[in-house]
Amino acid sequence: MTAHKEQWASRAGLVLAMAGNAVGLGNFLRFPAQAAQNGGGAFLIPYLVAFVLMGIPLLWVEWAMGRYGGQFGHHSAPGILDRMGKSRFLKYIGVFGLFTNLTLAAYYCYIESWTLAYVWHSLKGTFKTTPPTEFFPAYLGQHAGSITSLPPEATFFFALTLALNVWVLSRGLAKGIELAAKIGMPLLILFGIILVVRGLSLGTGDPGVVESPLKGLNFVWNPDLSGLGDFNVWLAAAGQIFFTLSVGMGSIHCYASYVKKNHDVALNAASAGWMNEFVEVILGGSLLIPIATAYLGLAAVQSATSGGSGFSLGFLTLPTLFNNWGWFAPVAGAMWFGLLFFAGITSSLAMGQPIMSFLSDEFGTARSKGALLFGGATFVLGMWCVWLYPGGSFDEFDFWTGTFSLVLFALLEVIVFAWIFGMKKGWEEITRGADMKVPVIYRYIIPYVTPLFLAVVFFGALVQPQGGEWSAAVSGLFDGQGWPLSPGSVLGKLTHVGDAGGWHGPNGEVTSRMVKDLSRILLTLVFGACSVLVFVAFRRKERRAS
Ligand code: PHE
Repeated sequence: MTAHKEQWASRAGLVLAMAGNAVGLGNFLRFPAQAAQNGGGAFLIPYLVAFVLMGIPLLWVEWAMGRYGGQFGHHSAPGILDRMGKSRFLKYIGVFGLFTNLTLAAYYCYIESWTLAYVWHSLKGTFKTTPPTEFFPAYLGQHAGSITSLPPEATFFFALTLALNVWVLSRGLAKGIELAAKIGMPLLILFGIILVVRGLSLGTGDPGVVESPLKGLNFVWNPDLSGLGDFNVWLAAAGQIFFTLSVGMGSIHCYASYVKKNHDVALNAASAGWMNEFVEVILGGSLLIPIATAYLGLAAVQSATSGGSGFSLGFLTLPTLFNNWGWFAPVAGAMWFGLLFFAGITSSLAMGQPIMSFLSDEFGTARSKGALLFGGATFVLGMWCVWLYPGGSFDEFDFWTGTFSLVLFALLEVIVFAWIFGMKKGWEEITRGADMKVPVIYRYIIPYVTPLFLAVVFFGALVQPQGGEWSAAVSGLFDGQGWPLSPGSVLGKLTHVGDAGGWHGPNGEVTSRMVKDLSRILLTLVFGACSVLVFVAFRRKERRAS
């Protein structure tokens, strides 16, 4: 069977597409919020250490694995992992590379669709008359006390966003994804620079400004060693590195599998990674926090980012603050949300392509049909998040796919790469055709430091204690008081720590606990379905071969 003959049109296009994959909503909303939540400059050092010891090595590993699998006609994680060793089990590790992309896309595209709606409403001048604090809950269909909603406008924009994704994806790698990155990335950087310049030039004499924006900048950027001793800051920093680089997903493997055997991966991976860091730390760090600080003061900004998502600053606060900018307000709004939209779509495309490549490689599904299937599945799963958003379905998806699965898959794949495929072959794969000298120390970092780092992060997330009080928890354990699991830890979530209720409230109404449990069941089913698809695909292959 002839698999698709897709390839990248140019090296610059490939690096831009990979950078577009990495640069996403995470850079502009999640990073500033995580930084603010974890002490600003105190966050920066663990973050950079995680980038060097975990992010960069994972990028190299994923690019190398992808290019290797591509030589055998595999362009998605199950097939690529299958080629890493003899065990029949390896391809099932690759199931994560389908599952995570699909389920992450479901809620990611929903946020992406908010940005599109907000571009429209900024230009229309909606926020001049309706404060976003009123607009946003209505848009999401939130009503006090209700755990379901079916908001017509949000559903419309969600469908529109998915249609755009499907359309770009069906145009193919070079004419779709690569072109979108070539247009979206420069525009996003341009919009970002304009807003940063405007924001940082705010002075205390300007109407509404209470503090210099530089104070916000200083807060984010001034490295402070105190974060080094705080395990929770490390967890947050590692989580952010994962999310922002798109590692542990299977999407990098997919893009890299279209690179030719002797073409560089080392420099390309490093360039895309550093480009992401530039956009995240320099642009992402100079936008939300400094502008919000100028108008609200630093303390208010920190409390607005509690939970670490940045949604409330991005979607509620910023559009209001822009109103101080007179005629420029609608333009600034359109630029801010336009930038988010470009960042978002170049990332959601990267979630769609692995699914399409899997269907095409294994079942011969045509490109446009594959794109439609991805769009359809994302719509159905996404509607679960839309419908039950007030009940917490969205957060549930975010945690299990956007945090938990990434770390688990990365841990497994790095072990497979370094210890099953073997570091000797692995190193050859990373360095073949390399246009840079990969520091030899990474030959040791990859098999030892990175897995250890990942294992610690994984374990930490599993058993994080109440209030993040690690030392108190440890001494309590020795005093026979047991381990106080935090409700946010993996085990805490699974055992519903701090949530004694059942599936129904006192009046028989559905509770958010039910929504959470059902969301988990749904996610498990999706994982199961992806595993079955992989099973069927490989059995067909074996049959054909024999
Ligand atoms: N890196 C993207 C961001 O920062 C998120 C993403 C994760 C994109 C995984 C693709 C795959 O928003």
